[in-house]
Amino acid sequence: MKTSNKVAVLDFGGQYSHLIVRRCRELGVYTELHPYGVSTTELGLGEVKGIILSGGPFSVHEPGSPKCSPEIFELGVPVLGICYGAQLIAFLKGGVVEEGRKGEFGRAELLFKDSELFAGVRGVRGREGGKINVWMSHGDVIKEFAVAEIIGYTKNSPVAAFRVSVSVSNSNSNSRIYGVQFHPEVRHTEKGDKILWNFLYKICGCERNWTLESFATEAVEEIRRTVGSEGRVVCGLSGGIDSSTTAVLVSKAVGERLTCIFVDNGLLRKGEKETVLNTFEKNFKMRLVFVDARERFLEGLRGVADAEAKRKIIGELFVKIFEEEAKRLRGGGNVDFLAQGTIYPDRIESAAGRRGGVASLIKSHHNVGGLPEKLGLRLLEPIKDLYKDEVREVARELGMPPEILNQHPFPGPGLAARVIGEVTEEKLRICREASNVVEEELKRSGWYEKVWQAFAVVGDDLATGVLGDARSLGRIVTIRVVESEEAMTADFVKLPYEVLERMSRRITNEVKGVTWVTYAVSSKPPATIEPC
Ligand code: XMP
Repeated sequence: MKTSNKVAVLDFGGQYSHLIVRRCRELGVYTELHPYGVSTTELGLGEVKGIILSGGPFSVHEPGSPKCSPEIFELGVPVLGICYGAQLIAFLKGGVVEEGRKGEFGRAELLFKDSELFAGVRGVRGREGGKINVWMSHGDVIKEFAVAEIIGYTKNSPVAAFRVSVSVSNSNSNSRIYGVQFHPEVRHTEKGDKILWNFLYKICGCERNWTLESFATEAVEEIRRTVGSEGRVVCGLSGGIDSSTTAVLVSKAVGERLTCIFVDNGLLRKGEKETVLNTFEKNFKMRLVFVDARERFLEGLRGVADAEAKRKIIGELFVKIFEEEAKRLRGGGNVDFLAQGTIYPDRIESAAGRRGGVASLIKSHHNVGGLPEKLGLRLLEPIKDLYKDEVREVARELGMPPEILNQHPFPGPGLAARVIGEVTEEKLRICREASNVVEEELKRSGWYEKVWQAFAVVGDDLATGVLGDARSLGRIVTIRVVESEEAMTADFVKLPYEVLERMSRRITNEVKGVTWVTYAVSSKPPATIEPC
C-alpha cells in the first residue's frame, strides 16, 4: 500500500512475525511484512518510517542463517530488533552472542532503565527504571554489546534491551537502533503495546492513521470479484466462529450460490451436532447439507498414532467429502469454489504463510495441511489474514449470535487433537465425557467466559486406582484450561482448587475407565494448547 506513514517488519521466520504487524496496525500505523532479504528499494524509501526485525528459529552462528541487508541500518530510519532480530543486530555490530547455553522460555522479569523505548512503562519502580514481566522464547543469549547502551536485563539475559547509534554514510545523522530480547508483541509481555507504541510514535515519529473498520465490506467485494456472477461455492462449516464468519461473508457476496456443508466426523463434542444444526437453522438463511461421515473418519484413523499423520488424514478426508458433495451439487451448474475458515495462525503454524519458507512446521492445521496438490475446487479464504480476536470483531459486526460469538475455539481435527496416540472409540468416549464435565463445571463456577479454551485430554497411559476394595487400572485424564488472546501464546489458568477438585471427582465417578486426573500447567510456548 502506498503511504508515507508505514512501518516494515522483516520476517526472519518467527512465530510472532505477523503478530508484530498486527499490533502495530492495532496501534494505528499501517505495517507490512517483508521477507528478511528485502532490498531497501523494495521497502519503498521515503515511505517507511521504521523497520522491525522479527524473531526467528535460528542461531546467528548457523551457517546460512538469515541476515538482512546491512543497508537497512544506514537508512537513517529507526530499527527495532526483536529476539533473533536483536541478536542479529548485536552480531552484526560486534556484540557477543552465545549459542544455546541458557536461554529463556516463557515468563522472565525484565529490569529496565528509563529511555524512550520504556517511556511511561510503569512496572514496579526502582531507583533508575522499573521491572516488568516479559515473554521470552530464545536459546541464544546476547552476552556483551560494547558499543550499545544496555537498557534492560533479566536473570539469564545480560543484554535484554539495548540502544545503539549508527552513523549514516554520506550524512551527518545517526540511525537509532534498538533491540529487545523479549517479545513485546505477545500479550503475556506486560506493557508490550506501550513499548511498541513508544517505538512507533516516540522513536519513529509515525502518525496514527490506520483502521480496519471496512474489512467486512472489502472482503465481500473481493469474494464477489473472485467468484464472478455465475460461480458456485461450497463452504465447510463446523459451527465455529471462523467457518460461520466465512459462510456469512460468502453468502453476502453470492447469496443462493452458496451451499454450506457440515460434516459429522465422529470427533465432535457431546451434543455438538444438534447444537450446530439448531443454531444454523435459527440464525442463517443458507442452504446446508449434513454429511454423516463418522465411520469413514474412524476407519481412516484406525491404527494411526502419530499426531501429524492424524491431522493429515482428517484434513484430506474433509476435502474429499467437500469435493464429493460439490460434485453431487453439480446438477444445476458447476461448483467452482471451496470456502474455508482458515485464519492466520492456521497458516503460520502450518508454515504455509511464509515467503521464503523460513518458519518451522508446528502443526498442520487440518484446513491447510490436508489440502491435496490438485484440488478440484478453487479456494476462498476470506479471513486468512485475521487473528481469532479480529475474526470475533468482524463476526460481531456481521451480527453473529452470542452462541457462536462466545463459544470457545474448537480445533478442526476435533477430539482427535485431544486424544494422544491412536483414536479409539474408548478414548474418544472418555475425552468427550470428561471434556463435557470440564465445560459444565467451568460454566457452573462462572469461569467459562473468562478462559480461552478448556477440555480434557486422554492418552494410552494407565494408572492404578481403587474401586470399592479392589485395585483397578484406568486411564489418566489431563484437564487443560488456558488463557490466551490470539492462541499464539497461552498460559494455564490458575483455577481454584475447589473447581479442579469437583472436576476430578466427577470425572473419576462418572466417566468409566478413568482412575487419575491431572492438570496441565505448561504455557505456550514451549507447549501448544492442544496436545496433538
Ligand atoms: P495449538 O494447539 O497449536 O492451537 O496451540 C492453537 C489454536 O488453534 C486451534 N487449533 C486448530 N484449529 N484447525 C483449527 O481450526 C486445526 O487443525 C487446529 N489445531 C489447533 C486450537 O484449538 C487453539 O485454539
